[in-house]
Amino acid sequence: MSTLFSPIKLAGLALENRIVVSPMCQYSADDGCANDWHLTHLGMLAHSGASLVVVEATHVERHGRITHGCLGLYNDDNEAALARVMLSARRAGNAKFGIQLAHAGRKASAARPWEGAQALKAGADPWPTMAASAIPFGDGWHTPREVTEADMERVRAAFVSAAQRALRIGFDAIELHMAHGYLMHGFMSPVSNKRSDQCGGAFENRMRFPLSVARAVRAVVPKYVPLGARITGSDWRPDGLTPDDAVAIAKALNGEGLDFICISSGGITADTRTPTTPGYNVPIAARVRKEAGVLTRTVGLIVKPEQAENIVASGEADQISIARAFLDDPHWGWHAAKALGAEVARPVQYARSGPKLWAPAAKA
Ligand SMILES: Cc1cc2nc3c(=O)[nH]c(=O)nc-3n(C[C@H](O)[C@H](O)[C@H](O)COP(=O)(O)O)c2cc1C
Repeated sequence: MSTLFSPIKLAGLALENRIVVSPMCQYSADDGCANDWHLTHLGMLAHSGASLVVVEATHVERHGRITHGCLGLYNDDNEAALARVMLSARRAGNAKFGIQLAHAGRKASAARPWEGAQALKAGADPWPTMAASAIPFGDGWHTPREVTEADMERVRAAFVSAAQRALRIGFDAIELHMAHGYLMHGFMSPVSNKRSDQCGGAFENRMRFPLSVARAVRAVVPKYVPLGARITGSDWRPDGLTPDDAVAIAKALNGEGLDFICISSGGITADTRTPTTPGYNVPIAARVRKEAGVLTRTVGLIVKPEQAENIVASGEADQISIARAFLDDPHWGWHAAKALGAEVARPVQYARSGPKLWAPAAKA
């Protein structure tokens, strides 16, 4: 009996298995609007064998986008475009869909990966950025201005508004992006937050703004819709957030009514290096799950079916999230089911590709 292919419930959402497609920016939107690329991409992942697909970082304000190609949910056009794509993607398969809501903070105003992934240069339509403190992400990056009280109020309201748009579109789950060095993580980490007001200094102060966002969004997301956050398990720096902090962050977010936590890590500065060992976040997730007592997902170099099975079967995480392996093999979930002797739903149109194909006497 595979644990990876056993059902799980997140708030009111019943999921067929523990496999999640991790949010992945496509850098292909038109002024925040999803288009046919997203339709094809998400339609493909709708029948990947994952029970839940989390749509890429979708930004709550225009200046909160990482690149000119990032998705947004900051106006009616964005909402209409994403609604069209999701209607179609849902018809393509049986996965449930979540969305990741984000603000890029000091990592905004950047070039797409295939255009260098650096701060946008003059002439490439850069925009002013903001962050917990006026410290750039790295050499050559924009110097952000320090977020003011008014900014916090506006961004909080933008997260709430984007969550309401996501609910109208019919998303099954919402994830707040609080990792990878973006705005929320930038407040939490002592590496990037040097504020002298009530939002800087002690851990409780650094958590104040992110927790207020979680609280405000929770207030408009019905209890049956799972709301969670992707957080950092470690800044991988001696002066940064640690797994102990991750446990405390998870507890605090759970205290605000969040239903799940996804443990990722890294990205607080341009020069920090994330480990490249298989399942590098798994031990941190295991600690968070045990010590914070919150439903925990994890991500990061989980590539093989047996590896994924062991993580959930041993109780290190409740769900596993996979990014690059799904781009490499959009039917990763089907192939994992085959490897583990489990069942996975396929669209009726593809039923003949099922387990019988691999039986010795397979017939066309
Ligand atoms: C093309 C690409 C885009 C990504 N975009 C996002 C994103 O929008 N939000 C996020 O939290 N992580 C993003 N990530 C990170 C992945 O979700 C994941 O955490 C990371 O790739 C490690 O998982 P993996 O080893 O399974 O790829 C992205 C990764 C890739 C490869």
